[in-house]
Amino acid sequence: MAEYHSDFLIIAQITDFHLRVDGKLFNDDKDTEAQLAACVEHLNALQPRPDVVLATGDLADEPDETAYEVMRRMLEGIEMPVYVIPGNHDDREMVRRAFLDLGYFPTTADGPFLHYTVEDHLLRLIGLDTLETGGDEGEMCADRRHWLDDRLSEQPDRPTLIFMHHQPIMTRMGAIDKNAFAGAREMEELIRRHSQVEWIICGHLHRPIQMRWGGTVVSVAPSSAFQRTLTLDNAMPKAFIDEPPGISVHMWSAETGIISHISLMGDFGPPYPMRDG
Ligand SMILES: [Fe+2]
Ligand SMILES: [Fe+2]
Repeated sequence: MAEYHSDFLIIAQITDFHLRVDGKLFNDDKDTEAQLAACVEHLNALQPRPDVVLATGDLADEPDETAYEVMRRMLEGIEMPVYVIPGNHDDREMVRRAFLDLGYFPTTADGPFLHYTVEDHLLRLIGLDTLETGGDEGEMCADRRHWLDDRLSEQPDRPTLIFMHHQPIMTRMGAIDKNAFAGAREMEELIRRHSQVEWIICGHLHRPIQMRWGGTVVSVAPSSAFQRTLTLDNAMPKAFIDEPPGISVHMWSAETGIISHISLMGDFGPPYPMRDG
C-alpha cells in the first residue's frame, strides 16, 4: 500500500443554510437556526479536524441585521477559521458589516464586491462575489473578471481553489438554467488560461453536482439545511425534498490534488463492522 508523503489540507464547505431568526420556519417546516446549530456541531466532531471552513452563500434566508448578528455568534462556535461569501438571498452590505472586523473582506472604499484571497494554507483560496444586482442569478461582470485575472496572474504556479455561490455551469435543473450566470462564457475562457485552478466550489443548487468546466472541475455542495429533488430534465418542476442535509469535505495535497467527499448530517446510528467478503 502506497503511503502519502505530502501534507493534506482539509477544507469543509458549508452552504445555503438560509438562517431565519424571526421565528418563522423556512417553507413552514424547516427550523434553519436549529439546522445551523447542528451543522456547527457536525463540523466540530469531524476527525481529523478540517483546517478551514468555507461558507458559500445563502447565509441568511431573508437578510436583516439580527440574522447576521446571530449567525456571526453561531459561526464563532466553529473551532476553526471560517470564511464567508454572499449568495442571492444575502445582502452584500449587511454581510460586509457583520464580518468586516475579521479582516478578510475589502472595505467599501476598495470597491463594491466581497471578493478576497486567503493565503494561509497549502492551497490558495479565492472567494468570489457572484451576486447579480437586482436579481437571483449569478454574475461575473468585467470588473470582477479583471480582479480575478489579476489575482490568478500574480501567483500562476500556486495551486488555487475558487469558492463562490452560483454555479457557472448548465445543470438541466429546470428554470435555473435560463440565463443562470451572466459572464459565464467569458469566465470559462479566463479560467482556462489559469491552469493552477484546481477546483471551483459552489452552492446555490441544494444538491451535490460535479462537472468538468474551463479546464477545471466545478463542484456544487449539498445544502446544510434542506435539499432539492434530483431533476435530470429541464422540464421537471423545481421542488424541495427531505433528503438529509450535508456538507462537502475537500482534501488537497500536492501529490493527489483534490479528493472530495460528502458528509451527511443526521442521526444514522453507530457505525458497525464490515464483514469479510
Ligand atoms: Fe440557497
Ligand atoms: Fe442561492
